[in-house]
Amino acid sequence: MTTALPSHTTPEVRSLLAGTLPHELSHGLGGPYHVLFPGRFDANAAAFRAVFTEAGVDGRVYFAKKANKAAVYAERAAVAGLGVDVASQGELREALAAGVRGEDLVVTGPAKGDDLLRVAVLQGALIAVDGLDELDRLLTLATELDRTPRVLLRRLPPEQPHSRFGLDEDEVRRALRRCADGRVDMEGFSFHLSGYDTRQRADLAAELLSLCADARTLGLRADRISIGGGFAVDYVDAEDWRRFEESRRPEHFHAGKSFGGFYPYHSPVAGADALRTILAATPAGESTDLAGLLRAAGVALLVEPGRALLDQAGFTVFRVRGVKERDGYAILTVDGSSLSLSEQWFDSEFLPDPVLVPAGSGPVADAGPYPACVGAATCLESDLLTWRKIPFPVRPAVGDLLVYLNTAGYQMDSNESPFHELPLPPKVVVEPSVPAGASPSASSSSSAFRWRLDRRPV
Ligand SMILES: Cc1ncc(COP(=O)(O)O)c(C=O)c1O
Repeated sequence: MTTALPSHTTPEVRSLLAGTLPHELSHGLGGPYHVLFPGRFDANAAAFRAVFTEAGVDGRVYFAKKANKAAVYAERAAVAGLGVDVASQGELREALAAGVRGEDLVVTGPAKGDDLLRVAVLQGALIAVDGLDELDRLLTLATELDRTPRVLLRRLPPEQPHSRFGLDEDEVRRALRRCADGRVDMEGFSFHLSGYDTRQRADLAAELLSLCADARTLGLRADRISIGGGFAVDYVDAEDWRRFEESRRPEHFHAGKSFGGFYPYHSPVAGADALRTILAATPAGESTDLAGLLRAAGVALLVEPGRALLDQAGFTVFRVRGVKERDGYAILTVDGSSLSLSEQWFDSEFLPDPVLVPAGSGPVADAGPYPACVGAATCLESDLLTWRKIPFPVRPAVGDLLVYLNTAGYQMDSNESPFHELPLPPKVVVEPSVPAGASPSASSSSSAFRWRLDRRPV
């Protein structure tokens, strides 16, 4: 049987799951839903900022909005004075509507449309230029609008030469000449690396610093670099992850399914600690750590974390609608689809075990482990939320809830679809009823939290 992969969680989540609210919301909303914890987002952002202060580095945190479409995180970013990384006109519109100032936006993504570029220029947003043709369109727009766009030049990572993003060495040289000749405020360079390697990030950051020095010889400003996102999230314990990896076999999954790979659900260095590690690393060929190099060069460091700012900032709830017995395990069917738990783009699945929240409070019948996979309420053979036969502690029953923890980073909505005319799961913002610092006298488990919809129904 497959090993358990319990998700890291928080006292707030444990307390919420021990009360009646999850079942009340499932009943009231009539289907699956996502819970959002804005307080956790604030704390994660504060941890990133503290690393910059600690290291004495001029740094700026931009929330990568693509990681979650909820309004509340962009609102929290605006209130906290964070920047926001937007990669589409919709994201830009939402960020502005949430109160983020244009100058606090960085616009990323490839081959941005003219509509997006126009608004970005008019709003004074920083634009990470991904290609020479995009730079040319931006220079034309600058003339038409009589404005000076703020740009970063995005570098194609030499260690990831097959990336479809960024400018190679020769293109960077040509872009710099065009910037020097055109109407543009060239503020520096950027990259975003796949994976979570802190060493690669420190090395490439140092390379961008020398590009800044080159750019300055052309009279360009070049006083900031962005190292993008890719700060890992630690979902499960090291030992559980090791055991899972070592014992993994196709028969641990429904229909003997095998996958291309999995997200590294355990990361020894994650979130703000990863930024601390990057700043403390001495890049290849240098004798000073990255923090020291940035200070010496008078260059600010921008980061664009998405997933890491959302660590423990939400979870996703499905209700069990059916339980079918198979050869030694069960197939649960829940009231939603796997598109609300998005790993399919990566030929993979979200591995941390969902928590079973039973409907009744009566005695538990068959004590576990009770293996079960989790299917969706659609007609697709391949629509499973979890192919893995999860070792549940008790036999799941119709009406129980399955709570997938820590899903705010990318899992909730990046693949969501109203296929089958299933409504998209609503997002519910949950906060403590008693604000931090106030008297906790009224905090019984049912009244400890208050909730609202992330967006009012239209
Ligand atoms: C340019 C850029 N910045 C930031 C991010 C956010 O990455 P993560 O959520 O891994 O921090 C991405 C993700 O694709 C990206 O493409």
